Amino acid sequence: MMIVKTAEQIERMREPCLIVRDLLKMIESEIRPGITTKKLDLLIFDFIKKHGAVPSFLGYNGYPASACISVEDEVVHGIPSDRVLQEGEIVSIDVGAYKNSFHSDAARTFPVGRISPLKEKLIKVTEECFFKGFETLKDGVRLGDLGYAIQSHAENNGFSVVRSLVGHGVGLNLHEDPNIPNYGKPGRGLRLRAGMTVAIEPMINAGVYEVNVLNDGWTIVTADSKPSAHYENTVLITEDGAEILTL
Ligand code: MF3
Ligand code: CO
Repeated sequence: MMIVKTAEQIERMREPCLIVRDLLKMIESEIRPGITTKKLDLLIFDFIKKHGAVPSFLGYNGYPASACISVEDEVVHGIPSDRVLQEGEIVSIDVGAYKNSFHSDAARTFPVGRISPLKEKLIKVTEECFFKGFETLKDGVRLGDLGYAIQSHAENNGFSVVRSLVGHGVGLNLHEDPNIPNYGKPGRGLRLRAGMTVAIEPMINAGVYEVNVLNDGWTIVTADSKPSAHYENTVLITEDGAEILTL
């Protein structure tokens, strides 16, 4: 069931969205060679708590941390660990906060020190993919048109779109209907309606789109071990467009 939020619900949802917005700005300044992903997760937990919210991911289906931190060929759902970030790597941070009975969900991919031109391009194109999709959003937009905008920008730049993981509705629950693929065919699919809040989250691979799950049951990695980037915002669909709540 797709949920259209009331004006009052949307107002309550703004605060958890602003918390992750500010959190992602804070964490960017902490990313450097030598820091562990566990340390970043601890900073994220403290930030969310300090703002009177609860980490949406902690305990979700048994997930053991506040953030998903995915390095290099890890696409999403990387579990924070003693892994030390190295100069030249890219790291995706995905976080959600729960406050006022509502969840937010957002992710960014950051460089660790100086990175290769290919990784620079991958991060940039992934962010652009989000905005190509965002530009299609308005009351009545079809998921095929949104997905096509994202997919064609990725593929025109020589990259691929992960198929087996998708965006989603977000709000009363972290994951709500509908599923929102980052690929699609123009003129096809469900229509989004004004008042829906959705997480749009392109996951873009430098190589093939196929992915595998590691033995930890969570971490998704690219099948060819090439790097992957992720960019996500919680977005409100409006009558004539959309509003990014986490930016
Ligand atoms: N932002 C992630 C997603 O939409 C949420 C991860 S759920 C967790 O897929 F359990 F892995 F934390
Ligand atoms: Co999400």
